[in-house]
Amino acid sequence: MSAIVGQPLDRTDGMLKARGEAQYAAEFSPPRLAHAVLVQSTIASGSIASIDAAAAAQAPGVLLVLTHRNAPKLPQGGKAAVNPPAGRVLSLLQDARVHYNGQPIAVVVADTLERAVAAADLVKVQYKQEKAELDFERAKASAHKPKSAGPERAADLSWGEADAPLERAEAKIEQTYSTPMEHHNPMEPHATVAAWDGGELTLYDSTQYISGVKQAVAKTLGIPEGSVRVVSPFVGGGFGCKGSTWSHVVLAAMAARRLGRPVKLALARPQMFGPVGGRPQTEQRIALGATKSGELIAMRHDVLCHSSFMEDFTEPAAMPTRALYACPNGATTHRLARLNVGVATFQRAPGEAPGSFALESAMDELAYALGIDPLELRLRNYAETEPSTGKPWSSKMLRQCYRDGAERFGWARRPMRPRSLREGHALAGWGMATATYPGHRRPASASAKILPDGTAVVRSGTQELGTGTYTVMTQVAADALGIPADKVHFELGDTLMPPAGVSGGSTTVASVAPAVQAACTAAREKKAAAVAAGRPHEIVEAQASAKEGEEKEKLAVRSFGAVFAEVHVDEDLGRVSVPRIVAVYSVGRVMNAKLARSQLIGGLVWGVGMALTEESLLDERYGRFANANFAEYHVPVNADIGTIDVSFCDEDDRRFNPVGARGIGEIGITGIPAAIANAVFHATGRRVRDLPIRLEALI
Ligand code: MOS
Repeated sequence: MSAIVGQPLDRTDGMLKARGEAQYAAEFSPPRLAHAVLVQSTIASGSIASIDAAAAAQAPGVLLVLTHRNAPKLPQGGKAAVNPPAGRVLSLLQDARVHYNGQPIAVVVADTLERAVAAADLVKVQYKQEKAELDFERAKASAHKPKSAGPERAADLSWGEADAPLERAEAKIEQTYSTPMEHHNPMEPHATVAAWDGGELTLYDSTQYISGVKQAVAKTLGIPEGSVRVVSPFVGGGFGCKGSTWSHVVLAAMAARRLGRPVKLALARPQMFGPVGGRPQTEQRIALGATKSGELIAMRHDVLCHSSFMEDFTEPAAMPTRALYACPNGATTHRLARLNVGVATFQRAPGEAPGSFALESAMDELAYALGIDPLELRLRNYAETEPSTGKPWSSKMLRQCYRDGAERFGWARRPMRPRSLREGHALAGWGMATATYPGHRRPASASAKILPDGTAVVRSGTQELGTGTYTVMTQVAADALGIPADKVHFELGDTLMPPAGVSGGSTTVASVAPAVQAACTAAREKKAAAVAAGRPHEIVEAQASAKEGEEKEKLAVRSFGAVFAEVHVDEDLGRVSVPRIVAVYSVGRVMNAKLARSQLIGGLVWGVGMALTEESLLDERYGRFANANFAEYHVPVNADIGTIDVSFCDEDDRRFNPVGARGIGEIGITGIPAAIANAVFHATGRRVRDLPIRLEALI
C-alpha cells in the first residue's frame, strides 16, 4: 500500500517558484531574440482593403512587418486538418478576411518590445466593412444544431419521452437561465518563443498540450512533426484557453523563419479577450416535471450559446442534466447562434459550470414550488446509475457529500422561508447545490530511470499548469519505486519525453499517473533483477504507456460534490457577500491533501466571481470588449472571500484507473454559482436567473 500518495506534500516546485527560478515561456531568451507584437483588426466583419506598413517598417529597430500581403503562403491556406483541442481555425495572414474585432491581421517584429509596440501603432489599415452580427437576440433566430457538443457528446440526447409527462406533471418548473461571455485570464497570458535551427523548430510555449502544439504547428506549416519540439516546463494557469494552439503560436514561428532569428510573441492582457477563446454566452431553458412528493418524472434542458463565423464551439451545458438525477424521461439539446466574435473554447468546467447553474437553480425552484427542503429534493432523486445511459457509476459517494456538507454547514437549522434570516443590517440566506464533472482518461506514457545513487529520474511529456503535476507524479513515482519523494526527480513539459495528452478536462492525474506508476514499477523490477544478478550498480530504465480499457464503455465515470453557501445581502445597496462556503467532494482518491484542497478553493473562488462579478461586455456597435482589463473585468479578491471549508470523501476509484483518482481541476467551479443564487433567493425572496447577479437585480 502506498505511503506517499495522499500525503499533503509541499509542492516540489514551490521553492523554484518562490525564488523566481521556475522558467515560464516568455522567460526563455535564446541569443538574438527579437520581439513581436500582434496588430489586430478594429472592425468586426469585412475585409482589409489596404494595409500600409511602410511607416512601421521604417520605424527604429523594426526588423519585419508581416501582413497578408507578404506572409508566407501556408499549405492548405493555413487550415490543415488537426482535431480540436490541438487544432483550431487560425488567422495566419493568408487572406484579407476579417471575422471579428481583434483578429490578428499583422505581426510587427523589432529588436525590443517597446519598439515593436510603437511600430505596431504605425500600421495603417483601411477596411471594406460589412454588416456584423453582434446581437445575440437577433442571431438566435438563425441558430443551428452543431455536429456535436464536443468529443463523444451528442448535440441532442433524449431518454424516455420527456414532453408528454412534462405536460401532465403535478408540479412543473419552466424557466430560462443565462450566463454571460467570460474570458479566462490566467496570471500568465499566452506567450511563445520560436527558434529555428535550419529546418528544426523549437517552441517555448505556455500551453496545456505540448504534443498538440507540436502536431498543429507541424501540420499547419507543412513540416514533419519530428522537426518540431515544444518545451513548456511551467504554465502560469491555463483553465482551457491554453488547451488549443492559437494563431500567435504559428505566427511567431512564421516570423522567426522569415527573419532567421528567434522571435518572442507574448500577448498583452487585453489580447486575452478575443483571439484565444473564452466561455460562450449561454441561454438555457429548463423544464422539470415532478410528482407532489418531489419525484422527477421528466426533464428538458435546451441550451443555446453563441458561436463564431470561423468555427463552432459548443458549451455542453446540458451535460449535468444527462447525469445528475434519477429521471425516466429526459430531453437535452444544444444550439449555436453565430456572432462576429473570436471563437469560444473550453473554459474551466466547460458545460458543467454554466449548466449546473441552470439545473441547480431550477431544482431549488422546484423545491420551493413543492415546499420540500432543497437538499431533501435532491436525495429523493438520487441517481444510483447514470440516468441517460443506465450505466453503473465507477464510484459515487455523493450521498456522503450531502450528509457531511449539511452537517458541517448546519443546514438542519435552516428555515425554509425566504427572508427569515438577518445578519445586522443585511438579509442572510443559505443555499446549496450539487457539483459535478465527468472523469476521463487519455493515453499517456512515461519513463523511469534508476541511478546508482538510489535516486530516480522520471519523465512524461505532460504539463504543469500550477495545479501540482510535478508534485503528484513525484508521489506516485516514489511509491511505485519504493523510495522517498526527495529521491525522485520528475520532469515534464518537453515533446522529447514520452508523450501524454492535453492537461484539460481534469484528466492529467487519471491519465498520466497510471503511466508513471507502470514505468516506475517496471524499472523497480529491472533493478531487482540486476541486483539479483550481481549487478547492483547498473543503471536501469523502463518506459510504459497507459490508457483506458473496457471500463470506458461499461461504466459511467463522474465526480460529485455538495456545495453550501451563506450570503449576506445589503437591502439598500443590493451588495452580496459570501462569508461562508462549505463543500464536500467525491472525486476518487485524493492524491495530495494539501494541493487538492487548494485546487478546490481556487475553483470555488472562481465560482463566486462567476456568480457575482464576472462578465465580458461586448460593445455591440464595434464588436470589441469594453472591459478587456483586470480593472474592469471583475474577479474576486481576498476581501470578497470569507471562510471556505473543503473536505473530501475517503474514496478510491480503482474501477476507473489504477491510481483511483478522478481529477479535480474543474469540479470546484461547478455548483457554487447556483448555491450562491439559491442563497440570494433565500435571503431576499428574489430569484435571479441571469449571471452575474447584479446589484440592480436586488434593489
Ligand atoms: Mo479545462 S477547461 O479542460 O482546462
